[in-house]
Amino acid sequence: MPRPLPLLLVLIHLLLFALVHASLDSAIKLSGKLYFGTALDPRHLSDTRCEPIARREFGSITTENTLKWGETQRVRGNFTLEDAETVVGWAMGAGKTVRGHALVWHGGVPDWVEQIQTAEEMRSVLQAHITTVVSRFRGRLYAWDVVNEVFNDDGSWRESVFFRLLGAEYVRLAFRAANAADPEVKLYLNDYHIHHQGPKLDAVIRLAQDLRAEGVPIHGIGSQTHLVVADGNTPGMAQSLQHLATSTGLEIALTEVDVRIPQPANRRKLREQHGDYEYTVAACLAVPQCVGVTVWGISDRYSWVDDSEETRGYDAPLMWDVRYVKKLAYEGAMKGIEGRGRAPRRRRG
Ligand code: XIL
Repeated sequence: MPRPLPLLLVLIHLLLFALVHASLDSAIKLSGKLYFGTALDPRHLSDTRCEPIARREFGSITTENTLKWGETQRVRGNFTLEDAETVVGWAMGAGKTVRGHALVWHGGVPDWVEQIQTAEEMRSVLQAHITTVVSRFRGRLYAWDVVNEVFNDDGSWRESVFFRLLGAEYVRLAFRAANAADPEVKLYLNDYHIHHQGPKLDAVIRLAQDLRAEGVPIHGIGSQTHLVVADGNTPGMAQSLQHLATSTGLEIALTEVDVRIPQPANRRKLREQHGDYEYTVAACLAVPQCVGVTVWGISDRYSWVDDSEETRGYDAPLMWDVRYVKKLAYEGAMKGIEGRGRAPRRRRG
């Protein structure tokens, strides 16, 4: 028969353990970060298996699609923000912070915007779009991804309709308009393939430094961090993130983490995915200026990887499988949080 006192201590210990490890978000907050988040659309909230996971595990919600231009102003002058309200309303009701994504992005731009011919017209359209959308959510969001994916991988500017007409000026205009519409919200530059060294990371750093020197209101840089299982594209992730933070003086975040697997997924690849989640989350934990981690979805049932041309042949990038069973990746993310202070292990390059 165990004596009552040790038994009580064991029970208290177990209870504390359960509380501390209750969710990804509570665990990462105990490690000093602001949130562990996910991206959501209304369809995830009406899925009765998905919504409870979102509610339990995550402390920050990024609007996956509902605040993109194609959803918010598909027809000129006609703003449709109901779906975004659904997501933001749910998130705030559940006590979560919200990241707005994304004001200016080349993806999903409506035809009428693509067809604009003059710099002058583009300036006024951008100004009106950003002012209307940001004002509507003023005071409710933690951060906005103001511009998304402005550079090519070689560090040159992406030839979006915005860049063609305005050059780099469109970025300045976007940050200024967003700041005028909501002076409190954090304004982010967001891009992919900047979790490792290379010309794109250099270009992002140079742009952020220029913006700051000119007094343009920018507060953070988001590293999307869409990864491929064990492809060796992640050596030195923490060092690259530290470099990004230190050389710009800005806060940073991992904003769209997922780890896609070349089909077919098997046990070995799922184990490697577990290691990649651990490594990635640990990289944020190792960098004081990294405020949080957001994964780009909950269940493999819905991932963008299945729909996109550029990710053909890959799937299963998230932490829950198509039947909502937790994958090894979840344990990996938890380990990444708990290994705080330990340098992420080197990956082969
Ligand atoms: C994706 C969404 O997840 C999909 O549902 C949508 O069909 C296309 O866009 N980088 C980004 C995100 O910044 O906005 C993209 O989201 C995924 C890649």
